[in-house]
This record gives sequence, structure tokens and C-alpha cells, in this order.
Amino acid sequence: MARITHGLTTSHVPAIGAMIDQGRTDDDYWKPIFAGYEWTKDYVAKNMPDVVILVYNDHASAFDMKVIPTFAIGCADKFEPADEGWGPRPVPPVEGHADLAWHIAQSCILDEFDMTIINEMDVDHGLTVPLDVIFDSKDNKTPKKWPTKVIPIAVNVVTYPPPSGNRCWMLGEAIARAVASYPEDLNVHIWGTGGMSHQLQGPRAGLINPDWDKRFLDDLTRDPQRLRTIEHIEYLRETGSEGIEMVMWLIMRGALGPNVSELHRHYHVPCSNTALGHIVLKNEDAA
Ligand code: DHB
Ligand code: FE
Repeated sequence: MARITHGLTTSHVPAIGAMIDQGRTDDDYWKPIFAGYEWTKDYVAKNMPDVVILVYNDHASAFDMKVIPTFAIGCADKFEPADEGWGPRPVPPVEGHADLAWHIAQSCILDEFDMTIINEMDVDHGLTVPLDVIFDSKDNKTPKKWPTKVIPIAVNVVTYPPPSGNRCWMLGEAIARAVASYPEDLNVHIWGTGGMSHQLQGPRAGLINPDWDKRFLDDLTRDPQRLRTIEHIEYLRETGSEGIEMVMWLIMRGALGPNVSELHRHYHVPCSNTALGHIVLKNEDAA
């Protein structure tokens, strides 16, 4: 039986990818940002998942105003890095797990979560920057091949209306049921990406709210039920227009179940325009 053993979150700031590509991860500004992932790199290398279910948002790379799926699942064998304006990043293609992805799609849809099935999709910084910060070498070089398969779950948090945090949580629970009914013995991680507080536009651009972010990180283990009820307006007011990306963390948290411990945390301000948050959670029931 497949098991979701760990949940992990990280912000997905595009400048992190640019610094990796330009070999500038040792610059004074960037060094502490990358240092916060060292613990996780070691831990994940020793507990390598067979598959990562990677919850992220596309930033008008694969989707645009023509098509806006609320929840989409990548069922292809391969996803190429997107051209985000400067040519595709020099990272390897992302290898999918089509069989498990179709199983999750079927299970979720019959469980009344109508996912959009995607068979062809390029993936942008929302997906590849998290892979880099966890799977790069100790000196922050992108590997020639990603060490695990990845099932992309793309969530619309760019165009109003995004899904509610509670709906995201319930999708996480449905994904967990899907994984638990997959017959092969697989170690599965679920990652939630994006966040934390940040606003990229308008008069409040640059907004960061460390107190709110810290409480959100604390409550992933202390009071996760509270997080389900946070309304869009609170994300917007307290964490800026792009802070809404954090609803994706609740898909991760809903999938992990009740018995969760925090293994590692990294919080750093600022990272580009963002409060960078990263946490590693273990599903104690799957150990
Ligand atoms: C930044 C953060 C994001 O989440 C994003 O998608 C784009 C830019 C930033 O901090 O610059
Ligand atoms: Fe983003």
C-alpha cells in the first residue's frame, strides 16, 4: 500500500532559481536563505520518497485567462520547465508517475472532487524552485535528473476566486484516501508550496507579516483545525495579495492526518519580496 509519510512546505520565490542558475547562492543576501534547507536536504536524501505529490500554482505559464482550472492534476510521464520570459530554466524535465496520478484522479473524482486532468503541461518556478531547494547538491547545484517522480497538483490562487482553505483541506483528505488505496508499496511525500506573506503589486507591495506567518507555522501542528477556517479576506488583509498561496499548504496538511510532528522549520525575511517559510512535518501514523 502507498503511504504519505511526510509533508513539506516551502515558498517558491523565482529569484531563488535565478541565483542557483547564476551560481550566486553564497552571496551575503542569499547564503542564510539556502542554509535553512541544509537540514532538509540531508533528511530527505536519507528518506527519499518514491513520489512527491507537489501542490503548487502556475503563474500564467501553462494556463492563462483562457482556461483557469481550480484544481488540476498532471497525469503525464514528463513535464518540461516553462519559459517564464527568459527561456526555460536549465533544470531537468520533471518525471511524472502517470499510473498513480490517474489513480488519484479517478479516486478524487469518484469521491466528488472534480479535478481537471492535464496530459501536457510545462511547469514554472512554482514547481521547480521547491525541487531545487530540496534536491540540489550541498553546494546548491541542480542535479542532472530529479531523484524522485513528481505528480503536479496545480491550484488556482492567481485569479479570483481561489478555493477556500477548507476546500483545500478536504481535497488533501481525498488525496490521502486515494494514495492509501493504491496497491503498490510507495513512500509518498506531499508538498505544499508558495507563501508566506507577500504582496507583489499595488500600494501595499512589499507587505510582510512575520507574527501572522509564525502563528500559521505553529498551528500546522498545534491547532491545524483553526487554519481551515481562515477566510480569503484575512489572507488578503494580513498576508498581502499573494499570501493566498498558503491555502495550498492546507492540501498538504489535510492529507497528512491528525498525528503529525514538526521536524524542521526555516523562516527568513526578506527573500526577494517574500517572507520565506519552510517546514517539514512527519506523519507519525505512517512511520
Ligand atoms: C515572488 C514571489 C512569488 O511567490 C512569486 O510567484 C513571484 C515572485 C517574489 O518574492 O519576488
Ligand atoms: Fe508565487
